[in-house]
Amino acid sequence: MTASPRPGVPAPGGVPLTLGAPPTATPGVAVDGFLPQHPPREEGRRVGPHDGPHESPYRAGSGAEYGPDFGVYLHVPFCTVRCGYCDFNTYTAAELGSGANRSDYAATAVGEIALADEALRSAGMARREVRTVFVGGGTPTLLPAADLAAMLDAVDDTWGLAADAEVTTEANPDSVDAADLAALAAAGFTRVSFGMQSAVPEVLATLERTHDPERIPAVVGWARDAGLSVSLDLIYGAPGETLAQWQRSLEAVLALSPDHVSAYALVVEQGTKMAAQVRRGELPMPDPDDEADKYELAATMLADAGYDWYEISNFARTPADRCRHNIAYWRSDDWWGIGPGAHSHVAGQRWWNVKHPRPYAAAVAAGNLPVDGSEVLSGEDRETERILLGIRLADGLDVGATLADRLPQLVEEGLLEAAPAQRGRAVLTLRGRLLADTVVRRLT
Ligand SMILES: C[S@@+](CC[C@H](N)C(=O)[O-])C[C@H]1O[C@@H](n2cnc3c(N)ncnc32)[C@H](O)[C@@H]1O
Ligand code: SF4
Repeated sequence: MTASPRPGVPAPGGVPLTLGAPPTATPGVAVDGFLPQHPPREEGRRVGPHDGPHESPYRAGSGAEYGPDFGVYLHVPFCTVRCGYCDFNTYTAAELGSGANRSDYAATAVGEIALADEALRSAGMARREVRTVFVGGGTPTLLPAADLAAMLDAVDDTWGLAADAEVTTEANPDSVDAADLAALAAAGFTRVSFGMQSAVPEVLATLERTHDPERIPAVVGWARDAGLSVSLDLIYGAPGETLAQWQRSLEAVLALSPDHVSAYALVVEQGTKMAAQVRRGELPMPDPDDEADKYELAATMLADAGYDWYEISNFARTPADRCRHNIAYWRSDDWWGIGPGAHSHVAGQRWWNVKHPRPYAAAVAAGNLPVDGSEVLSGEDRETERILLGIRLADGLDVGATLADRLPQLVEEGLLEAAPAQRGRAVLTLRGRLLADTVVRRLT
């Protein structure tokens, strides 16, 4: 786990780092030696709030150039209970050790922000204002609003928030009330993403969600009253969910007119309680055909209600309602991920923090960046990732001269839109969105 500084490792922007601090027994790397070289680690699967990023953001590098935007992801690794399907880096104990306890966590995260700034400056990088902040989890709203505000203040004090910054927090519907949402808005949050998942009690029970679906209209109303933009997260394909139940969830979402909707297919992650239930035959494995039907239903109902897809799983009422933070991941912009297990990407290098909150907090307390590993993508890998991520966006992907001759066949098969393809851009049709992996394979 301990990563020692290594001489000669290029810093973001290609500026050699000066090494000063000695190797330490505390996990993490001294600021001067940040971004050690490690073998690549298995990448996160989902891309996005969950994923996201926070979900494990894992994006293509942009060479030695600065990405156009700089964002900050703040991970909050706590939940009251773990949902059976979830393998995110989250812990249910409130007491994890000094610095890692829920009550200490904001101060530790603020400590990492200071170390991040120091590392960027010692690597010769100019301060860039922060265009987007995304607080994800775990359940960020298990922390008092004042703690989330303190973390956001630290980002602002350190780098400066852009005047029009998008500042999102994820929230479980049963972890916030009207006063919390008002406090978050007053602190500078602009957006809240509620983990609704389903409107159907039986489906929520299968997913082991703790909230009552009747709470959703209440939290949406409170968020609106506070002036926050609202996103609702849905999962489709839970074991036993019928198409009619999924339709009910979509109708419930549309009745609330959120600004943004995410709809993700359930992934049965290895090592989760749900994976064990499926293995023992207690729950059926999600069926890809059923998931495809559900995606199509969602895409059609959302489009009919005026929500445009801008990424395969993400829909917005207007372009201004798109999640700019997630778009930055898909475009391989730069972001610093704060918190245990958080991933970062700056100027073509990416790295990830130690996963457990205890060694994470120990590293920060010792004045070390809590980095567990890092990598620099080869040009070929970067191109593959550019295709893998860019193809997911409704804006599509510029395929360049070498791949342009593959587009007509993909258009012929109904996977790509014809008009953009004539201009060398790959834009998925609805069928293409269902078969995006195939399109990627054909373009890589
Ligand atoms: C990690 S959660 C964090 C936010 C919050 N705790 C919640 O559950 O809403 C972010 C999103 O990822 C989704 N998610 C987690 N595990 C998933 C899985 N195995 N398949 C699909 N979506 C998943 C959650 O349902 C949630 O909407
Ligand atoms: S509440 Fe969210 S982060 Fe926590 S276990 Fe459930 S899905 Fe995972």
